[in-house]
Amino acid sequence: MNKEVQEINRRRTFAIISHPDAGKTTLTEKFLLYGGAINLAGSVKGKATARHAVSDWMEIEKERGISVTSSVLQFEYDGYCINILDTPGHQDFSEDTYRTLMAADSAVMVIDASKGVEAQTRKLFKVCGMRGIPIFTFINKLDRDANDTFDLLDDIEKELGIATCPVNWPIGSGKEFKGVYDREKQCVISYSDTEKGTKEGVATEIPIQDEEHLRGLIGDAAADKLLGEIELLDGASAEFDIEEVRAGRLTPVCFGSALTNFGVEIFLKHFLNMTTPPLPRMADIGLIKPTEHEFSAFVFKIQANMNKAHRDRIAFMRICSGKFDAQMEVRHVQGNKVMRLSQPQQIMADERKILSEAYAGDIIGVFDPGVFSIGDTICMPKDKLTYEGIPTFAPEHFARVRQIDTMKRKQFVKGIEQIAQEGAIQIFTEMTAGMEEVIVGVVGVLQFDVLKYRLENEYNVEIRLENLPYEHIRWIENKEEVNLEKLIGTSDMKKVKDMKGNPLLLFVNSWSIGMTLDRNKGLVLTEFSRN
Ligand code: G4P
Repeated sequence: MNKEVQEINRRRTFAIISHPDAGKTTLTEKFLLYGGAINLAGSVKGKATARHAVSDWMEIEKERGISVTSSVLQFEYDGYCINILDTPGHQDFSEDTYRTLMAADSAVMVIDASKGVEAQTRKLFKVCGMRGIPIFTFINKLDRDANDTFDLLDDIEKELGIATCPVNWPIGSGKEFKGVYDREKQCVISYSDTEKGTKEGVATEIPIQDEEHLRGLIGDAAADKLLGEIELLDGASAEFDIEEVRAGRLTPVCFGSALTNFGVEIFLKHFLNMTTPPLPRMADIGLIKPTEHEFSAFVFKIQANMNKAHRDRIAFMRICSGKFDAQMEVRHVQGNKVMRLSQPQQIMADERKILSEAYAGDIIGVFDPGVFSIGDTICMPKDKLTYEGIPTFAPEHFARVRQIDTMKRKQFVKGIEQIAQEGAIQIFTEMTAGMEEVIVGVVGVLQFDVLKYRLENEYNVEIRLENLPYEHIRWIENKEEVNLEKLIGTSDMKKVKDMKGNPLLLFVNSWSIGMTLDRNKGLVLTEFSRN
């Protein structure tokens, strides 16, 4: 096997998703620790600093305690080269999470055992299900009092609409946490708190058949409960089926405590066992296999002004096939231009490492002079292929933006357009007007705060947002066939256009959508825009 194929095959690229505070950062840190990417002193002593450095780019994240941007981390473990894509921890940024999931081959979902699937993250977890990629669940904080294990699994099944298959099973929780039962090995792994260790403690493993030892280790009450639960579980839970896992219909579930270092390495090992190397991706010319095609990639995220010291714009790309070499020329398909990617780098929040090469499965950030859009394809100059686009979600909240100081028109237009190009918000204008009257649409209301904050801090423009009553927006699929002027809507309907000039309709309620469809035979409306 040549080096390129070997490098691609040892890559594993996953997104990590959780409700804020469920322990995503702690789990990530432990992964890095096992991979030797950070040293112990730096990790434990400077945890607050480490966390800050890893994902908090923006002040607003610090104020609200949620991350609204994502970062990428790479580490080595057991011969694998692992890429972790961090995602925002609030459902208002679920569109961003969806885009990040587009760049991943699987997802790790972290859930707090005392909370289950939380209201604010429902939508976030749902987009995970929508993407149809394997989802691996880590139920965290078993060292604290946890919900009933069956209830936790039920919750995931109901919220995500996918079956669960426990890989291991917790024995008690909180002060009574004794360890986990490994279903495959049929043994109990006893709990040890090794918060300060660089590896998981050497746990005692007792076969479940060895009842005497088991009772001695975990006590009679816990042993009786466990034996009862195992019986129930073997009868009730979905059969493990790797094909179902890979299709995203069954999620393997592990239990543990990231903080005390228990169950993390077990999870990582199971995870690596079940995941695949970078998967093929669909392009207009057919399926592109990572090891059988020269370099190709697509842009899944654009982020401006990540770091005030570098007022720049970075386009994040997922390499889908082949090897990337910083010296080579590539084709930007949508821009129909051959170019060299400028300053290719691996981005770890504030830290940036200039890359000379990267392989399928890796994520690279390149300096973007304003030419890339989300969903764009990059490939070899001789090739012409286009990866499937990334859908734009229909916003659900709308507001009219008013500038407080009208003298700052230029900064305002620049700022709002750039933020919209990043996909953080969507902007619309009246059909016949320019940027003097802008309507902003967002999927979650927190995005309004981000817009306001960023315009003030990055562009020095103050704005006032006036909420509008619209709740639905629809793209006109057959815009060539429809005479917009003659379109008869309801009195509360509004015609607008997006940044690309596509016509859209805004509605106050779903009744108006139905009414408009009734009144205009042949009109086709959609909830997604694919360009
Ligand atoms: P997030 O990235 O998902 O938002 O969560 P994060 O890892 O920051 O964890 C949130 C809080 O939960 C942290 O406490 C962290 O120490 C704690 N935590 C994470 N995993 C576990 C676990 O397995 N058991 C217990 N008991 N706690 C856990 P904090 O007080 O907010 O921060 P810190 O002062 O400890 O840094």
